Amino acid sequence: MSETRLWLPVCLQTDVAPGGLLAVTVLDQPLVIWRTAGGRWGVAHDRCPHRGTALSIGRVSGEHLVCAYHGWAFGTEGRCERIPALPQLQPTSRHALQTPALCERDGLIWVRFGQAHERLALREPVAFAGPQGPQVCRLHCGPYEVAAGAPRVMENFLDLAHFAFVHPGTLGDPAQAQIPDYQVEQDDAGLVATGCSAWQPRSSLIADGAALVSYRYEVSSPFTARLAKQPQSSQDHDESIGLYLLPIQPERTRVWFLIAMTAGDRTEAQIRAFQDAIFAQDKPILEAQRPARLPLSPVAEVSCAIDRLSLAYRSYLRSLGVGFGCV
Ligand code: FES
Ligand code: FE
Repeated sequence: MSETRLWLPVCLQTDVAPGGLLAVTVLDQPLVIWRTAGGRWGVAHDRCPHRGTALSIGRVSGEHLVCAYHGWAFGTEGRCERIPALPQLQPTSRHALQTPALCERDGLIWVRFGQAHERLALREPVAFAGPQGPQVCRLHCGPYEVAAGAPRVMENFLDLAHFAFVHPGTLGDPAQAQIPDYQVEQDDAGLVATGCSAWQPRSSLIADGAALVSYRYEVSSPFTARLAKQPQSSQDHDESIGLYLLPIQPERTRVWFLIAMTAGDRTEAQIRAFQDAIFAQDKPILEAQRPARLPLSPVAEVSCAIDRLSLAYRSYLRSLGVGFGCV
């Protein structure tokens, strides 16, 4: 299971206030994420080492996570620092929590269970490289819950040919469904697809008409990717969308987007509503796919030349040994 060696996004930083905690399931494993009164983050398997109670029903007190059952108090490194029924006892590593690695990046909290994957060599999650500047609006959308494997959701994000049928009137036009050929390159860091384009009646909230829109995709890990898109007729509209997938269970995924775009006078609420509407069109398709997990065998589903990015993604998963949400 090399997915345990990947950084996985688990929540937005704004989901947990100082002094708060959150239960979250990652790769089928229940975790508790907390934030001390001083703002430090902690993550641990959601099971007290003493008698197995879920730590997420406990509370944060000052700089400690306190178990609801007998009050054992833990620091963010997982060390047990107090056993109230035996105050003279100095707790040892035997009393400590199991703590995955945690980091903050792009407004999300990420965890990693094991050693970093040697092929990906990702010491940290790849930073989102969207457009910058005073004209740029940057916001998170979601979370969206989907009853499908995370790799199915990723493939949908990388798929140009569905625009015309799933998003008619905005991202595609059934009368102009043809997708020109494009290139895909794979290296150890991930996948890059260039030269992609699609005819779009309304490629984004601020599009002022139909246009041929260029796309570039970068897959930086099995569960995170970014697209940059630009109408070929207008160089002043710049937009990037990051995709962040939390593989909860093999057939259950939580999805966030990070959008950075030149937004004109559009508000964050309008940008979010547009993205919500687009994803509401993708979700029933994703939940109707059989199997709900992504088949990794190149012959399990029938592909054509325009699916080369999806096929490269499947081969990338195979080469990394990632199988969660796959068959
Ligand atoms: Fe957690 Fe006893 S079960 S302190
Ligand atoms: Fe879509």
